[in-house]
Amino acid sequence: MAKHFLRDDDITTGEQKQILDLALELKTSPYSQKPFAGPQTVAVIFDKTSTRTRVSFAVGIADLGGAPLIIDSQSSQLGGKESVADTAKVLERQVAQIVWRTYAQAGLEEMAANSKVPVINALSDDFHPCQLLADLLTIQEHKGKLAGLKLTYVGDGNNMANSYMLAGAVAGLQVSVATPVGYEPDGDVVARASEIALANGGSVSVSNSPTEAIDGADVVATDTWVSMGQESEKQERFRAFSGFTIDAALMGHAKSDAIVLHCLPAYRGYEISAEVLDGPQSVIWDQAENRLHAQKALMVWLAQSGK
Ligand code: CP
Ligand code: NVA
Repeated sequence: MAKHFLRDDDITTGEQKQILDLALELKTSPYSQKPFAGPQTVAVIFDKTSTRTRVSFAVGIADLGGAPLIIDSQSSQLGGKESVADTAKVLERQVAQIVWRTYAQAGLEEMAANSKVPVINALSDDFHPCQLLADLLTIQEHKGKLAGLKLTYVGDGNNMANSYMLAGAVAGLQVSVATPVGYEPDGDVVARASEIALANGGSVSVSNSPTEAIDGADVVATDTWVSMGQESEKQERFRAFSGFTIDAALMGHAKSDAIVLHCLPAYRGYEISAEVLDGPQSVIWDQAENRLHAQKALMVWLAQSGK
């Protein structure tokens, strides 16, 4: 049975550490691992737009000796024209791994259930676990550790919030989330993340107060207020999220050496001020680069796990 990576808690604390350690190794020796030598092909499917995920998977697969096959769903039979299960059965016979950015988490689960090769979630409506591997790698590099640090996420209770809670819990972080009323993260994810955090000496808390949540934070993170697929709610969301911008005033409540993360794309002046995003505490370009190293490590680890 192949291993899959569909959500942040699909891996244990030990496995997460193994992947992050390998990512650091690959960052210094980018061409040292060739799990896809042949070259074998890896399918990377997009139902939503992307810059970072598209580039980092294409480059990463090539670095690992493989051939990336980028598929935009509009130009394939996916998306209602052919079932996910039938697509999985066709792909598994020809590709080494399947990477998919889509809407419903259930679609990814169906793909995985029907595939003998690993399936990787490249963002769904519910989670963005590849992004969190890159974020944890970035925190590790800048802070020298993970467990025990306080990470505050201010913004929408969306896929990024869910992934910060789950991956943070696996890593033993103290994760605090602040959202406007009505935009809190999914209760089941909060409960699951709290349970994992407890076992790892971490914690998860959710509130509607950005100033309280950010108090003493080592790491401050945010994300767009309008995720892909929510464009029609834009004006309503801008109103609801007023007061939730990561700006210099809010950063004043975090530790003075706190680092700032944003998965990008960013909307300066909305979820984050230009001053903070482009300022000295921001590590966003390292974070964006680390998508490459973290995902390469993930693909190597999945290739090895399947043997
Ligand atoms: N952060 C992220 O996933 O960026 P893209 O949407 O550009 O892939
Ligand atoms: N929450 C955002 C993340 C983009 C990388 C979205 O889903 O659009």
